[in-house]
Amino acid sequence: ASREPLDLVVIPGDGIGPELVDSALQVLERAAAAGDFAYRLTTVEAGAEAYRATGRALPTDALERLRAADGVLKGPVGLPGVRHPDGTEAGLLGGLLRLGLDTFANVRPMRLLPGVSGGTRHSAGEIDYVLVRENTEGLYLSRGAGAATPDAACDQLMITRAGTERVVRYAFGLAREREGAPADGVRRVTCVDKSNVLRSYALFRRVFDEVAAEFPDIATEHLYADAAAHDLVARPECFDVLVTENFLGDVLSDLGAATVGGLGMCGSLNAGVEAAYAEPVHGSAPDIAGRGLANPLSQILSLALLLDRAGLRTSGDRVRAAVESALAEGAVELDVRGRPAGGTGSVTSAVCERLAR
Ligand code: NAI
Ligand code: MG
Repeated sequence: ASREPLDLVVIPGDGIGPELVDSALQVLERAAAAGDFAYRLTTVEAGAEAYRATGRALPTDALERLRAADGVLKGPVGLPGVRHPDGTEAGLLGGLLRLGLDTFANVRPMRLLPGVSGGTRHSAGEIDYVLVRENTEGLYLSRGAGAATPDAACDQLMITRAGTERVVRYAFGLAREREGAPADGVRRVTCVDKSNVLRSYALFRRVFDEVAAEFPDIATEHLYADAAAHDLVARPECFDVLVTENFLGDVLSDLGAATVGGLGMCGSLNAGVEAAYAEPVHGSAPDIAGRGLANPLSQILSLALLLDRAGLRTSGDRVRAAVESALAEGAVELDVRGRPAGGTGSVTSAVCERLAR
């Protein structure tokens, strides 16, 4: 390999996290051999189990380590039984990492791949859009800092001009460069909000329109979030890039996941100016943890996004192609709950085999 080894940090996480990350690391090994690049790995234990063991969800010096890395591959974290006295979960890293690393854009590609049934009338290739979720403000800014008495509780939804500008610019930049296209072939960014009801969302839309003027080559569209929920099921083929507030993006991306074969099909990248980390859209699935039932493609597709980000786009494409051919050739089949028929390991080997071809 001609370049410095890629410096990667791995957070295995909780529940199904370690199984999924193990699967993605096997794929990474094959991808590195095929793409002739070297890497080194550092593991950071973080999440709910780490909180239980040490009293901290993230080790004290971890943020610096993560910032210095070329990329971070993170498994899902959190366990519903590990909670603060106020009822919120103690093992989540969302706030710590997204704010700590200032990864303001959560990029969530939704693609219906060959051989996968998404429950709508669509076939492979027809659903292909990217949901960009603002990651540092919105309703989740008040995480843990809301006001609460036993009888009433209040959280705040904060939208800033600067926070909106940067994520909307990111979305338009993505629309310019990405490969997939909506059914009508028109490059477009859709702004999703509830500006009909809330001032915060009205500011989000106003800033969206201002930024859109910088990108005259990209079409725009506005949808209220409730209508967007409907349209993501009724006409997903029409979308290209969507950009939205943190909480709405959280909810709408799980909805989108249901149309492309379930949460196990969805990887994501948390992107900032300097740092980035990749993780599945879903959580730690304690209901199926440790049983080899989970679909690891979410973690493998997250790895592909991390490779893209690290400047190894060819390797990212190679991983995506291996996933697609494993599905197209029937080597991976998902049941109605989105679980692979042959278990987690069979998916890993199907993808690894195709990378070695
Ligand atoms: P979940 O996403 O973990 O699970 C929802 C459903 O999807 C479950 O039935 C699960 O079995 C299934 N599922 C999820 N991933 C799957 C996969 N790869 N293959 C097959 N089936 C899969 O959501 P839930 O149960 O609400 O949350 C569990 C924990 O995860 C909680 O502690 C939550 O706070 C945490 N969480 C962490 C996230 C993160 O680390 N980024 C994101 C979302 C939730
Ligand atoms: Mg979520």
